[in-house]
Amino acid sequence: MIVFLLLLSLFSTLWAKDPRLVQMTEVDMKPPEGFDEVYERNARNVFVTWIRMPLDHFDPQNPTEFLMRFMFNEQFFGGDGSPIFIMVGGEWDIDHRWLLAGNMFEMARENKGYQVYTEHRYYGGTKIFANFTAENLRFLNIDQALADLAYFITEMKKQPRFAESEVVLYGGSYAANMVMWFKKRYPHLVVGTVASSGPILAKVDFPEYLEVVHEAFMLEGGEECIGHIRRGVEETIAAMQTESGRRLLEQSYRLCAPLDYDNENELGVFAGLISWTFSTSVQQARPGTLQAVCQSFTDHTSYGSTPMEKFGGYIAIIRRLSDTSCWSINYDSFLTSYNETTNSRAWYYQTCTEYGFYQTAPRSGTAFDGLKWLSLDFYVDICKRIFDERFDLAFVEDGAERVNLIFGGLEPVVNNTINIHGYIDPWRALGVYKNDISETSPTYTVNRASHCFDMQGWLQSDTIEMTAVQQRARRTVASWLSKS
Ligand SMILES: *[C@@H]1O[C@H](CO)[C@@H](O)[C@H](O)[C@H]1NC(C)=O
Ligand SMILES: *[C@@H]1O[C@H](CO)[C@@H](O)[C@H](O)[C@H]1NC(C)=O
Ligand SMILES: *[C@@H]1O[C@H](CO)[C@@H](O)[C@H](O)[C@H]1NC(C)=O
Repeated sequence: MIVFLLLLSLFSTLWAKDPRLVQMTEVDMKPPEGFDEVYERNARNVFVTWIRMPLDHFDPQNPTEFLMRFMFNEQFFGGDGSPIFIMVGGEWDIDHRWLLAGNMFEMARENKGYQVYTEHRYYGGTKIFANFTAENLRFLNIDQALADLAYFITEMKKQPRFAESEVVLYGGSYAANMVMWFKKRYPHLVVGTVASSGPILAKVDFPEYLEVVHEAFMLEGGEECIGHIRRGVEETIAAMQTESGRRLLEQSYRLCAPLDYDNENELGVFAGLISWTFSTSVQQARPGTLQAVCQSFTDHTSYGSTPMEKFGGYIAIIRRLSDTSCWSINYDSFLTSYNETTNSRAWYYQTCTEYGFYQTAPRSGTAFDGLKWLSLDFYVDICKRIFDERFDLAFVEDGAERVNLIFGGLEPVVNNTINIHGYIDPWRALGVYKNDISETSPTYTVNRASHCFDMQGWLQSDTIEMTAVQQRARRTVASWLSKS
């Protein structure tokens, strides 16, 4: 375990030096904020190990197995028959800190629970294949991932101490879809699930995402803040029309080299640098975060002086570009970055084959409408170029349709699932956030809250409404456990 933790911290320093240009549609599940001391003190409570898993759960003739990574923390475990809490991993590396703080940690503490964090096949340390060719990726899909969880739970329950244990799943973002769909498909294996910010409707063209980003800045910063953002986009697009404007643009955004202004795809990557920076701020916002961003736009010196310079400065700060480096925007190297055996490539494959979730430029009068290079063609071309020519728009649409057919889109039929959303979370547009899912599956949508807020620990800046929903989820989970 000690060796493992050392490796982990080594990787995080390497990443800090090499900020990724884009985040695209994937989510980086950052551990609860404000617990650094706890993490240091209690790291030894978390152990990491592996379980043998069938590669293809649906083909009895295929005997191939792989090793799936998981972590566990038994510090609260009350002995035979006490409950099991599973944090379900999505398109990221599992991180031991999620078993040391946050709302599931509190649930385990209150109910003498055994905590587990399972890693999703093909991600993190559960890569399975040395390279991610389209051929090798065919075992990466939601059906196999849910079956992994079912197999995992069944194997755990073969241990006498867990034979009578109830199981609760907790998942955020794509993993929220997973826990809700798991409860639907394998209701006999879990007593209930907590789904945080699940975009349960698969949708290829997803302009609503940037519409909520716009709405979030409007709600938190008002007209004035939106005005700054709108002018930044407009000034940038106007600058592209002249030679002198282009040089000013390259300078303002700290680009290493001029853009290829005739290449729509390269402009798509550049537009992404802008939109993904704003959406990262929104997706990770706690109360006060966006107001601080808006304040810095109003301020004459914080980010720069002209609207376009302010954008460049904001991007450099939020994405931690060092003073001596620059952004290298190039479509081919952007594609090449997806050619490696990474979480990003695996997730992009899932978007091409199952979800879409392509954050296209809105067409509804938002500050981001001008970023028209963020088109369906831009996103779907990536599917074709990095995986297979056959992955065209019709193929991608079919994949999303299949997922909605199987799981019911915005009308899932499921019991005992707590469905939580943040109102300023761009992903809530693809979730059920206005009404309960069923009598036993309540929905809580919280103002001023963003993506997966409820999974976190308590912070002073949290609103009473945020804390109350976290408590309500804990009470509901406790009531499931006391009934059983
Ligand atoms: C991918 O890995 C396989 C072995 O699993 C190997 O035969 C193949 O050449 C590799 N392909 C690429 C493109 O690296
Ligand atoms: C990605 O790898 C494939 C081989 O698997 C290669 O044909 C292709 O040219 C590479 N693409 C880029 C952009 O490097
Ligand atoms: C949900 O619970 C209700 C009430 O217990 C029951 O009638 C219904 O069949 C359940 N639905 C599912 C999908 O399990």
